[in-house]
This record gives sequence, C-alpha cells and structure tokens, in this order.
Amino acid sequence: MSTRIDSPGPIFARPDEIPEAVRLAYYDQGARYLIGGEVHTWSGPCQEVLSPVCVLENDGASQHRLGHYPLMTATESIQALESACQAYDRGCGEWPTMSVADRIRHVESFIPRMEAVRDEVVRLLMWEIGKTLPDAAKEFDRTVVYIRDTIQALKELDRTSSRFAVEEGFVAQVRRSPLGVVLSMGPYNYPLNETFTTLIPALIMGNTVIFKPPKYGVLLHAPLLQAFAESFPPGVVNTVYGEGPVVIAPLMESGRIDVLAFIGSARVASILKHQHPRPNRLRCVLGLEAKNAAVVLSHADIDLAVKECVLGATSYNGQRCTAIKIIFVHRSIASSFCERFVTEIGRLKVGMPWEEGVHITPLPEAGKTEWLTKLVSDAKSGGAEVINRGGGTVDHTLFYPAVLYPAKPDMQICKVEQFGPVTPIVQYDNDDEVIAWLNQSPFGQQLALFGTDARELSRLIDPAVNQVCRVNINSQCQRGPDKFPFTGRKDSAEGTLSVSDALRVFSIRSLVAAKATEVNEGIISEIVSGRHSRFLSTDFIF
Ligand code: G3H
Repeated sequence: MSTRIDSPGPIFARPDEIPEAVRLAYYDQGARYLIGGEVHTWSGPCQEVLSPVCVLENDGASQHRLGHYPLMTATESIQALESACQAYDRGCGEWPTMSVADRIRHVESFIPRMEAVRDEVVRLLMWEIGKTLPDAAKEFDRTVVYIRDTIQALKELDRTSSRFAVEEGFVAQVRRSPLGVVLSMGPYNYPLNETFTTLIPALIMGNTVIFKPPKYGVLLHAPLLQAFAESFPPGVVNTVYGEGPVVIAPLMESGRIDVLAFIGSARVASILKHQHPRPNRLRCVLGLEAKNAAVVLSHADIDLAVKECVLGATSYNGQRCTAIKIIFVHRSIASSFCERFVTEIGRLKVGMPWEEGVHITPLPEAGKTEWLTKLVSDAKSGGAEVINRGGGTVDHTLFYPAVLYPAKPDMQICKVEQFGPVTPIVQYDNDDEVIAWLNQSPFGQQLALFGTDARELSRLIDPAVNQVCRVNINSQCQRGPDKFPFTGRKDSAEGTLSVSDALRVFSIRSLVAAKATEVNEGIISEIVSGRHSRFLSTDFIF
C-alpha cells in the first residue's frame, strides 16, 4: 500500500498482501562467518535482525523479523586477525607476493560467483535497510561495475610500473606494494557498495582483509561468504560480526591492523584510531559525516533547482552522506522556490520498498523517527514551520519528509547531519552569509550551486572549492561517477577514494634501485630475463 507525502495514510501491508516475488522467508543462513578460508556455522549467541518494514498482524504493525547473525566475542575476532596476519605473513605470504596478473585472476573469478547470488543479495538489501528495489539492484550492479573498473585501473597502473626508470645515474623499478592487514567497515546506507569500494581495492593490491558489516545490512553479506572462500587463498578475506566494542576494539588494540578503512561517524573513527597503540603505523581511509548545502542563487532556473534539490534531499530518505542537508535560497526567489519545492515533495510516493515508483520508505535505525521529530520541534521553537502538508508525520518506522522554513543557521537542524528526510531552507541576502556558514561548518564534503549567471556563480565557486572537495553546478551532490575523486575536508573524510585513487590508498610505492653500472645492469637483466623476481619484472598485463 502506498500513499503521497501530502496525504498520509496506511502504508504497511499484511503478510499475504506482499507480492510473492518480493517476499522473504526467515533467513536462517545468517549465522555464518568466514575465517581461515572456511565458512563456519556459529552456534553462540546471535543478534536478531528486524526489518525497517513493518507488517500488519492482528495486534497491529511490527517490524518484520528477518533472521539473525553471530554476536562474536573477542576470541573469534582475534582468530580472524591471526588468520589475516598469517595469510599476509609479514608480506611474504602467497597473496602479497603473488603477481598482479594472478591476483587479478582471483578477483575476476569472484565476479561470476557474486553475480550468481544477485537476487538473494538484492532482496536482503531491500528488506534489511528499506532501500527501494530498483536502488538495491542498482547498488549491486554498480558494485560489480566498480570491481571490473578496479581491475582495469590496476592493469593500467601495472603497465606503467613494468618499465625501469633511469635517473641521475641510477636505474630503478618502482611498483606499488601492499600495506598489510586491512580492517574494512562500511556504512548501513550502502552496506554492499561502500564496503566493497574499500575491500576490493585493498584485496587486489595484495593486502589481507578483515571486514565487519555495518549494524544494519549484515545478512546480505552471508550469500557472498562462499564466493569469497572459493575465490581467494585461505585467510585473505575474513569476517567478524557483533558489537563494535567487543569485536573491533581487540583488533585495533592489538596494533596489528595496518589500515583502517571506515565509513561512518567521526566519533567512532576517532575512538578506533585512538585504540591503536602505534598510531604512526596506522593508515586511515575514512568517509565521515557531511552537511552538503545547496545554494539557489537569485538567477537560478527554479524548476531545475527544485528538481535536483528534491532528489538530493530525499533519495533513499536523505540517508546518503552526499545528500543535500540544508538549502540556502536567495531572498528574492525564496517564496517561489519554497512553493514549488513543497509541491514536488508532496508528489513523492511513500510506501513499501518493492512498490513501483515508491520514493520514501521506512527507516532502519532504531530511534531515528524520534530524533528527527526532536529536530523538527527544535526548529519550530526557533520560529520555523513545517511548510509541507503531512511533513513530519510518523508511522512506526516511517517518517514523512518535513520541509522547515524559514530555518536559521543556528538551529540544531542546520548544524548536525540529520541523515534523514528533514530539509531546512534558509533564506539569505548576500554571498558572504553562505561563505560564513561554509567556513564555520565542521564538515567539508560537497556543495551544490544553482544559478545561470556565470559571474554570480564564480563568486561562490572560488571560496567554496577550498572549503569542500566538490562543487556541483546545477546538479545535486553525489559520489559518482566512481572514477571521479570522492573525498572531503575537515571532519568529512580522510584520504581519497575513486576507482584509481583507492588502489593508491591501499598500497605504497616501493622501489628497487641501483647505480647504473655495467655490473648492476647485468644483474638486473639476469633477474628479469630469468624471471627470478616478481617485483623486478617487465611483464606486461594485457
Ligand atoms: O553515502 C554516501 C555515498 O557514497 C553517496 O553515494 O552519491 O552515489 O549516493 P551517492
């Protein structure tokens, strides 16, 4: 059952009203984990997984029970660590010393195994985090494309590394080498894609990996465990499940994690970093909070700005790090913008993630609707109003998008990352107000500028590019295309991810150099022609 935002109505279905094609029987395969190249079945305590989607029973609506996953202890966590360390073997293991061509073959063999479980993963993704069916499918397919693009990017990187450099009387070969054991932790909003955008580059560069799925979006990884086990040597990929303080703290405190790839909150990232006893050894790749603003300038094409801002603020219920989380509109067009924005928001379809054309779906995080309600009340007490009909209505796990106007920069909703469907609109008179907001913001990921006047746009582009890492003109903020650099300043990120940047982030340049004497050149030639070394080699990957 679906409804529109401006006319809230019953949306949750009875079990027999759910189309058979999208139903999900209780998933009893979740209590498995991968350590040492084997998929084990867990017999200890488990965490029950509830869907954000409620189903109607005689006693009312309640969150659908989906399955369960292991609540591991520090013992299994250390087993995973031992397994990863053993496979890496201080850089002498089979995987880190394998030729690039062979590592690529292993990753290639993983792709058809992953594709074979597409439907199961997509269905779990939809039920576990409430992502619409087309978006869940898109997340899966985008991830497969990302893996293929990563392979291509590594081939290109390796081609440039397979020649010798001659400089100032030295001859050298420079290659990228792995860093060690990587701990990879993705976020709940892209539990597959964002985990894999660190896991795959880390693997293909020769590191061994322990990955922990996010709090929501765990079961969907279970169908992939066998694919990992069959595609990689034992210990190269390991999984841990459970409470962060129980299973992650021992890993970080051991000092044996070489790279932390974490997408989540700055608070948790900081805790994890501080747990590591040798911070200088730890590399971090972090994707953290963002508060991307849209700025609608006085000469903007209002219809275009409205269309992009609605998408930017409400896709996957605003639960994207790149979502538009605050809108500044020039006072001269503010009322016209708000009117059209509210009309478009009102047309969005609210309902179950499998329904055609649905846009707004239930939220997975416990306590989320209460937190959003609090932000709305705080803004109201500061003088803003919910200007869209039905905005802010709560139905169990569902929150009807609320548009707050006129919002003021000092309101809570303008300062925090709401990560949900509440959009504050602030009116402004001159660019300095927007620049001042950007400068004081603790976040620095992206900005979206809407305007048609080149000079007017330029006045904001130049100060903005030194506060954020991507300025979008007349389009919403977004991560893609995945070949573009994706990063942030201040508390929004550490390190840069893109298909090619990720390969660099999970590796370091090592070189073998020698004075270019006749003897040394003879030795190097013999090593290369005799294929005595995998590092010193001119093999070319096609
Ligand atoms: O949540 C953050 C994602 O990386 C955003 O990706 O802009 O493609 O939705 P997206």
